[in-house]
Amino acid sequence: MNDPKSRLIVALDVAGRREALAAVRRLSGHVGYFKIGLELFTREGPGLVEEIRDTGEKIFLDLKLHDIPNTVAGAMRSACALGIDMITVHASGGTAMLEAACAQARESAAPPLVLAVTALTSLSEADMNRFGVQGSMDEWVGRLARTAYEAGVRGLVASAREIPMLRRTMDPQLRLVIPGIRPAGVAAQDQARTATPYEAIRAGASFLVVGRPIMQAGDPAAAADAATAEIARALGS
Ligand code: C5P
Repeated sequence: MNDPKSRLIVALDVAGRREALAAVRRLSGHVGYFKIGLELFTREGPGLVEEIRDTGEKIFLDLKLHDIPNTVAGAMRSACALGIDMITVHASGGTAMLEAACAQARESAAPPLVLAVTALTSLSEADMNRFGVQGSMDEWVGRLARTAYEAGVRGLVASAREIPMLRRTMDPQLRLVIPGIRPAGVAAQDQARTATPYEAIRAGASFLVVGRPIMQAGDPAAAADAATAEIARALGS
């Protein structure tokens, strides 16, 4: 955690294996983790995860698991066998599911960090009200975060907007993984609540997820280095 680069996760949101491996080659040594999401995993499967892992890189498998405890435990077993470093589950899967996921991770030879996704940032308060959830989004996220923590989860995916509330109310050791990061001077694209690497780290982020600002840059390694420089500045000041 002391190396600013180790806090940078690049989202490998590309169409397939060839593009993914080219990005890994270009960015190796410039980022801490490569995030493989549902699109790439569904297309290329576990073989690509192993291929990237075998290059020595760290992997965040963003599968957002959400099913009955037995099924999630089985999926966790399969995922852990791939030698991954981080994996996501939905906090709304409930206590038994979260406990099963953590227990399965602990059984692995090298347990990955289990991260709980609280409320998807695409959900609005109107969506929550339609589900019968009253109160603010912060209250709902806080409730899901506490449920995950009590079940043994020690990392959360959250938006930059929620960092202050989570840092005020939760265990300071909790790892916060923050997407929606836009380095200074980069367009927000479809992300609504963005923060710069500097702002997010200063607010208390542990890791930052950056996709397009690095992957679509003319020089992705230089874009990653610029994000790392901002992280370093935030940690140093
Ligand atoms: O390209 P961009 O930097 O917006 O990519 C952000 C990555 O983080 C994407 O892989 C996206 O799926 C993921 N993510 C997000 N917001 C969340 C959870 C995950 O943008 N709440």
